[in-house]
Parts: sequence; C-alpha cells; structure tokens
Amino acid sequence: MNKRRRIYEGKAKILYEGPEPGTLVQHFKDDATALNGKKHAQIEGKGVLNNRISEYIFTKLGDIGVPTHFIKRINMREQLIREVEIIPLEVVIRNVAAGSLATRLGLEEGMQLPRSIVEFYYKNDKLNDPMVSEEHITAFGWATPQEIDEVMSLALRINDFMVGLFLGIGIRLIDFKIEFGRHYENEQVRIVLADEISPDSCRFWDNTTGDKLDKDRFRRDMGGVLEAYQEVARRLGVLTEAPRSRGAGPVLVTTNGQKPN
Ligand code: TMP
Repeated sequence: MNKRRRIYEGKAKILYEGPEPGTLVQHFKDDATALNGKKHAQIEGKGVLNNRISEYIFTKLGDIGVPTHFIKRINMREQLIREVEIIPLEVVIRNVAAGSLATRLGLEEGMQLPRSIVEFYYKNDKLNDPMVSEEHITAFGWATPQEIDEVMSLALRINDFMVGLFLGIGIRLIDFKIEFGRHYENEQVRIVLADEISPDSCRFWDNTTGDKLDKDRFRRDMGGVLEAYQEVARRLGVLTEAPRSRGAGPVLVTTNGQKPN
C-alpha cells in the first residue's frame, strides 16, 4: 500500500520520504519495546494516540518559540516533519527520582530532586545507549560545546513548560527523553526538537493517586497500557475517538455524544 520510500525504521516509528524536498513523513506504529527490543508487543491503537499526543505537545512548544521538526499531522498515524540531521544523543530531563536514576544512585522512586537534572545518553542500540558526559560528546564530535549549551537551554525550557502543562491536567511529569536535530536552511543551521514526546518517552504519574500513565505499565507488566495512554490523551483534550480492539463491534453513542451506561 505504501509506495513511498522508507528512509528509516525504528522500534516504534517509520520515516518515509516526504512530499517535498527537506520533508519526511513520521509514521507511528503500535509496536512497544523494552529492554532494548528484547521485550516486544503490539498495543493496538498506541500509534494513533502517540501521534495525537506528540502533535499537541510539539504544537504548544512551537507556540512558545521552541523550534521543532513538526509541520502538521497528516492522518491518524502520520505527521509531516522537517528533515533534520539527528544528534546521536538521548537527552533525559528528570524532576523526580525514578527508573534508572533511582537504581543507579539508590534513591527512592518518587523523591523530588533538588533541581531538574539533564542527562545525556549516546544513541547506540548495540551499546544499550550508554550514559555519556559533555566530555565524551565533544571529544567524539557528536555535538559542539555551543550545541550542547543550546540543547541544555531548550531542554530546560521544554521541561518548565511541560511540567506546568501536565500539572494543569493532574499529571506529575517525573522525567522524559527528547532528541534534537540540526535543521539546515539557507546556509544556516538551527538546533530543533525532533522525534516525539508521548507516554512512550515520558514518565507521567497521576498527581492524586500516583497511578502510572506511561510506558512503565508495559515495561513492568502492569497491564492497562492503552487505557493509560488514552487517559493522557483524554486529559489533553486530543482523544477524538477511542481506538478499539480488533473485532470490536460498533460503539453505541447517544445523541449528546456520550457513551450510554
Ligand atoms: P530511565 O529512567 O530508564 O533512564 O528513563 C528516563 C526517561 O527516558 C523515561 O521517561 C523513559 C525515557 N526513555 C526513553 O524514552 N527511551 C529509552 O530508551 C529509555 C532508556 C528511556
């Protein structure tokens, strides 16, 4: 069905050649992976939700002046993006101790950190994305000192904005991972936010109950993965129609658009 040229296929997304030079189509799959691909499942409807959630966050970030690769959503699973040269770093911003930080430093999960902490991981599946310092990044030429400064400053701005955005809908932003790229235009190069921001790449905890609303439900075999993603989308106001499992019959709706009890 897809005649477009496939540029790259990752664990949860595919990039296709875009309709114009300098553009790509980013396609969100339903695949969920953890443990660097050793654990794998299909979560039907996840791609549709992540496409919407990421579109919403990238648009809001664009509105406050954060440069991003996002141009527009094309359909349920795809968005048009600017082609960028990806900086081979996973940038993790943490507000609360959880996951690998809690393990590495023996911190209790849920402890508020003294301040937001930015970490860098080298994007390399064969090496399991090892944590690296600015010394490694500049010595190996993955990014220049100026680019690291720009990435750090954008990462903290994005974090400040996202903490407020999610607190407003009753969600605590624990930590998240973002990626950046170089966008070349008219002899100029600009660092832009790339990839996605979704429950696949963030830790979201319900602010009242502490319930996990993110991919940790998959990583930790807690169940209710799709429902958690749907809840995030619903609170953001981007859930137009709940994706349903294969074979599910039509959903009866009343004239006011509500599902009957
Ligand atoms: P970590 O605690 O496992 O290092 O994860 C920190 C954050 O980064 C968490 O929100 C999940 C996200 N993340 C990804 O998006 N991709 C990854 O490959 C990893 C390891 C983490």
